[in-house]
Amino acid sequence: MKAIGIFDSGMGGLTVMRALKARLPNESFIYLGDTARLPYGTKSADTVTRYAVQASAALMAHDIKLLVVACNTASAAALPTLSQSLAPLPVVGVIEPGAAAAVAAVPEGPIAVIATEGTVRGGAYVRAIQALSPQMPVVQQACPLFVALAEEGLRDGPITELVARRYLEPLLATMPRPRGLVLGCTHFPVLKATIAKVAGADVTLIDSAETTAAAVEKILREKSLLHDGPAQPPKFLATDAPGRFAHLGEIFLGEPIDPGAVTLVDL
Ligand code: DGL
Repeated sequence: MKAIGIFDSGMGGLTVMRALKARLPNESFIYLGDTARLPYGTKSADTVTRYAVQASAALMAHDIKLLVVACNTASAAALPTLSQSLAPLPVVGVIEPGAAAAVAAVPEGPIAVIATEGTVRGGAYVRAIQALSPQMPVVQQACPLFVALAEEGLRDGPITELVARRYLEPLLATMPRPRGLVLGCTHFPVLKATIAKVAGADVTLIDSAETTAAAVEKILREKSLLHDGPAQPPKFLATDAPGRFAHLGEIFLGEPIDPGAVTLVDL
């Protein structure tokens, strides 16, 4: 039985794996976190593409049937390269599903996007949203400290709230006030409660995990690749500190990770 391969720069993509597991309980998963080289969000598109190619090659060695790029920065920088070089393997990123979820949630807009520096700089969300809704106003803000706070497990409390205020208050003060806020980084859903508190009740938070899982299900169904039998336990690969990955990964995956299931790999 072939597994679905998933990769991210670290643990954030486990929020996407969580949605995939809930939607596709019969599927098996292998997840790679490039923890040695996190963050991707501050690096150039060329470097992120090189890392993404290496991470995918490591997952391809496990004979996967579909690849999920569960990292917005890598999706923005490397999706066309990966889709082309891995064809006919289906490759699914998180930006287009996130853009579709945003336009569906707040069709009248405006939409604000929070992401890493790399994702904001490349403008991939603006293009993907405006491909669906050409007149949609989109504002963006890079929130690099959110990645560190999430990786440290600082989901709430005064430090996280202060950082959230610093990033979100100017962004949401733009006129007309954004009605939707895209969590354009797979690390951000773990900070959702704090982000929601600072954003206010009139702003809808949009997380691409659910729509990405729906896109994966659609492709597997169309290609007759869905699995009926029981799933195998998930496997994890980490490029650094597998013990820390197992320990802190639980926050992102929403269930404990067996330390014995995490293998240290060198890309
Ligand atoms: N997971 C990355 C993303 O979704 C953020 C973390 C990083 O900067 O590597 O963009």
